[in-house]
Amino acid sequence: MSTLLHIDSSPLYGRSVSRELTAAFVNQWKASHPDGEVIDRDLNATAIPPINSGWVSAVYTPEQARTAQQKELLSLSDSLLAELEQADEYVIGAPMHNFGVPSVLKLWIDQIARVGRTFSYADGKPKGLITGKKATFIIATGGIYDAQTQMASFNFVEPYLRSVFGFLGVTDATFLTAGGTSVLNQGQDRNAFLAPHLHSVQTHLRSSQGDQA
Ligand SMILES: Cc1cc2nc3c(=O)[nH]c(=O)nc-3n(C[C@H](O)[C@H](O)[C@H](O)COP(=O)(O)O)c2cc1C
Repeated sequence: MSTLLHIDSSPLYGRSVSRELTAAFVNQWKASHPDGEVIDRDLNATAIPPINSGWVSAVYTPEQARTAQQKELLSLSDSLLAELEQADEYVIGAPMHNFGVPSVLKLWIDQIARVGRTFSYADGKPKGLITGKKATFIIATGGIYDAQTQMASFNFVEPYLRSVFGFLGVTDATFLTAGGTSVLNQGQDRNAFLAPHLHSVQTHLRSSQGDQA
């Protein structure tokens, strides 16, 4: 049985482009995995504290030596990691906020990037430990940051996600970007704007399910 981890990080809910596209992904994924399980992790509805020195000390304390308080400090991270480990596939919605990922997505990444659990430094070299997973990132940006455009170097969303997930071992990653969503605030029809992006989600899922067959 396959499991999909579905993560959203847009605070805009019904107005969010990334949420609408991840929801379309999930619906289509469910149709092709009737026995599959979907884990929904809404980062705007999850209270994730920033990591602090106690958290870092707990991470670097060997598991069997951790105090009850240290175990408690790591309990949210442990739950989020269990979701990541249980799932075979990920779909992650990421709006661009101030040229980067939303703070809630960064807080989640800080909880799941854990030495000994998701990466190690075997032989002094970094080694990602989340292997064999397939990830689809659905990014929405108000402006346009396509390669060769004047604003391309301002896009820290895709390069960051590609780097950090690659570091953790998730190298089978697809990035679908809905760029230029600001036209929706200028009266462009939402369905017309979304249509090609919904099509990209559909096409990507069809071809990635084909890979599995
Ligand atoms: C707090 C905030 C910061 C934003 N920063 C940027 C930005 O730096 N560049 C940009 O092109 N769009 C920016 N936008 C616009 C969003 O990227 C755009 O609305 C996108 O559709 C967000 O994804 P969503 O619709 O899933 O929420 C920002 C929007 C918000 C709410």
